Amino acid sequence: IQLQLAQEKQLVAATAAGWVRDGMVVGLGTGSTAAPFIELLGQRVREEGLRIQATATSRASDELARRVGIPMLEPRRGLRFDLTVDGADELDPQLQLIKGGGGALLREKVIATASDYLLIVADSSKAVAQLGRFPLPLEVVPFALPWVMDAVEAFGGAPVVRVDKLNSAELAQSDQGNLLLDCHFEKIENPDELARELKTIPGLVEHGLFLGLARAAIIVQNGAAQVLRP
Ligand code: A5P
Repeated sequence: IQLQLAQEKQLVAATAAGWVRDGMVVGLGTGSTAAPFIELLGQRVREEGLRIQATATSRASDELARRVGIPMLEPRRGLRFDLTVDGADELDPQLQLIKGGGGALLREKVIATASDYLLIVADSSKAVAQLGRFPLPLEVVPFALPWVMDAVEAFGGAPVVRVDKLNSAELAQSDQGNLLLDCHFEKIENPDELARELKTIPGLVEHGLFLGLARAAIIVQNGAAQVLRP
């Protein structure tokens, strides 16, 4: 099954790489589905002379993009992205998303919001009828952590502080040096309401609910890449 999912990631990444046109400013996502997209896009830059410029949603994706030869842009006033391609941890039929499993949710939301078109690439395990099985990631300023946990609990979630993947004695840190909470809600009945509630918590920098942002998703159904729209 892991092998099948890895093949699906390659397939949706390759399909998305074909959506990029000469002259585009492209947002580059983060994770194991966005990574092959970045590699394939770099291949098009090197082999076809495709002229694009890009900004990445994480340090890891930025390094990968530079390594494969994609010209990179620094954040600046007025910068907009014609197309951003990013993964997701869950997507529902309206293309509401949970993101942040890779810890890059803040930069991902900044780039998604500055994008004219957000395209999600995902293997078939990510499609759900209702959001919430995947614990919702939150990025939190370290000082505020205990109170953010209290507040999340009051909103019906069970928060767990994320530990470093490589060293479980350390807490995971975002690219901004903040901490990450993974919040179990089981089912998120009303994502808009939860998003509004979370935004009232001081010290909570960003949450992983991406609502009304994705314009399309490429996922695999019956062995073929399919484009879904909300
Ligand atoms: C990164 O913070 C996340 O939002 C990723 O986009 C998400 O975790 C999907 O990653 P995979 O494509 O590796 O599943």
